Parts: sequence; C-alpha cells; structure tokens
Amino acid sequence: MNYEVVTTQDGSNTLYSKQYNQHYHNIDDGAVNESLHKHVIPCISFHKNEKSLNILDICFGIGYNSLSTIYYVKKNNLDIKLNIYSPELDESLINSLKDFNYPKEFDFLKEIINELSTNYFYEDENLKIEIGIGDARKYIKKFNKDFFNIVYQDAFSSDVNKELWTKEYFDDIFKISNKNVIMSTYSIATPVRLSIYKAGFEIYQYIPVKRKLSLCFKEKQDFIGKYIDMELKQQRNKEAKPIYD
Ligand SMILES: C[S@@+](CC[C@H](N)C(=O)[O-])C[C@H]1O[C@@H](n2cnc3c(N)ncnc32)[C@H](O)[C@@H]1O
Repeated sequence: MNYEVVTTQDGSNTLYSKQYNQHYHNIDDGAVNESLHKHVIPCISFHKNEKSLNILDICFGIGYNSLSTIYYVKKNNLDIKLNIYSPELDESLINSLKDFNYPKEFDFLKEIINELSTNYFYEDENLKIEIGIGDARKYIKKFNKDFFNIVYQDAFSSDVNKELWTKEYFDDIFKISNKNVIMSTYSIATPVRLSIYKAGFEIYQYIPVKRKLSLCFKEKQDFIGKYIDMELKQQRNKEAKPIYD
C-alpha cells in the first residue's frame, strides 16, 4: 500500500502518501474542516447567486473537496446545479474509495461515492461529477475557453508535485476559467503566487479560521481578503521567481 489512513483533528480520516511523503489534508485543521473553510465556503459564497456552476477540483484524491461541496450546497438549501470535473492520476485509490471510512456528514453520499469509485462518473438532475483518470496537465486541455467558475487548486505541495504549480500550468487554467472565476489554494508561497500572477490572475490573501490562504481572480474585486501587490513583492524580493515547467 502506498498510503496509510490517519485520523485528523475534526475526527475525519485522511491519508498519508508514502510516495509524496505528504498528508492529503492538514492533520491539525481536520479534513472536512479544511475542505469546507479553505475551498468550499469562500468559493460557493462568492457564487451563491448562480444557478449552475462548473467546478474544477485539482485533484480528486479521496474527494473531500467535491463531496464537501455537495454537502454544503445541500445543507444550506442552495439552488445550484453543480458540474464537477476532477482529474486524478491514482486509479487504484479511486477504486478503493467505496471502502473508505468517510465522516458522517457524507453518509447521504454513499451511492454517489460508490458510483464514482466504480465508474468515475455520477449524474442526477442537480449534480454531475466526472473523475478524469490520468494526468491533470493533459485532462485540463480538453475544456473550452472560459468554462470554469470555480477552481480548487489542491495538489500536493510544489516541491513534490511541481507540474501542478508552474506558470505554464496556470496559463492553461487561466484559459479555461470564466471571467468570474474564483480559484482557492492553501499555498501562500511567493514562487507559487508568482506563477499564478504571471499567468494573469489577481491574488488576494484570506484567513478563514487560523491559516492564511490565497484566493485568485481574473478581475480585481472587493469580495474578501487583502489584495497582494505582486509587482511590489517582486521589487522587494529580487530573488523570488515563478515556477516554470
Ligand atoms: C493533496 S492530494 C488531493 C486531496 C484532495 N483534494 C482530497 O480532498 O482528498 C493530491 C492528489 O493529486 C494527485 N496527483 C498528483 N499529481 C497529479 C497529476 N499530475 N495529475 C493528476 N493527479 C495528480 C495525487 O494522486 C493525489 O491524489
């Protein structure tokens, strides 16, 4: 086995990857809490008046970001049709998810989890989810320009998962993002922010609970968070460079 199950602070289980030497979620924040506070709540709140959302979940892993999105929309009775697209390299992990011990919040999602774990696809009148088995870099090339309203950027960190943090990768993400896109990521590292900025995004710092995160937009806005002036950051830190392929 390439991973070990670990119980996090909020009681929900995550995995430790022996291949990447990293946890799938922050143990101290809790897997469900992390997913809700770092990704789902800021992004869905930003789009709470939309009737339909196209969401890119990078990458599926054990699926907390996708599953917490469905949970949050249902719990708050939001009338939003969700179309979720999520690449994942690790097919055997997806196949194992029907037996994963998920938190009680996800009990009502059992049928959806079984379908995704077996067929990589689920659809009903309010929800469509597709898991794209394979490399995310290839997967994102199939989408039309301006398609996504939300991007959850939740790869392993750039030192071990570099291909999902480069300027060229974010160029592709920028192309397939709508002008109203919001992209959430736990990373606040300057090289990562420079990669995102050089691809065309504006960057804001937001503190949902205790840890800072980055929210990224195509257009400047006054939604939440503090605007990060990346030009100024670069002037002050001449050594700082974006990550390139
Ligand atoms: C930090 S985990 C994602 C956690 C996930 N959001 C969740 O809630 O469980 C990163 C995931 O990215 C996958 N991954 C890493 N590089 C990838 C790539 N180039 N293409 C597709 N998936 C990749 C790993 O297999 C792993 O499952």
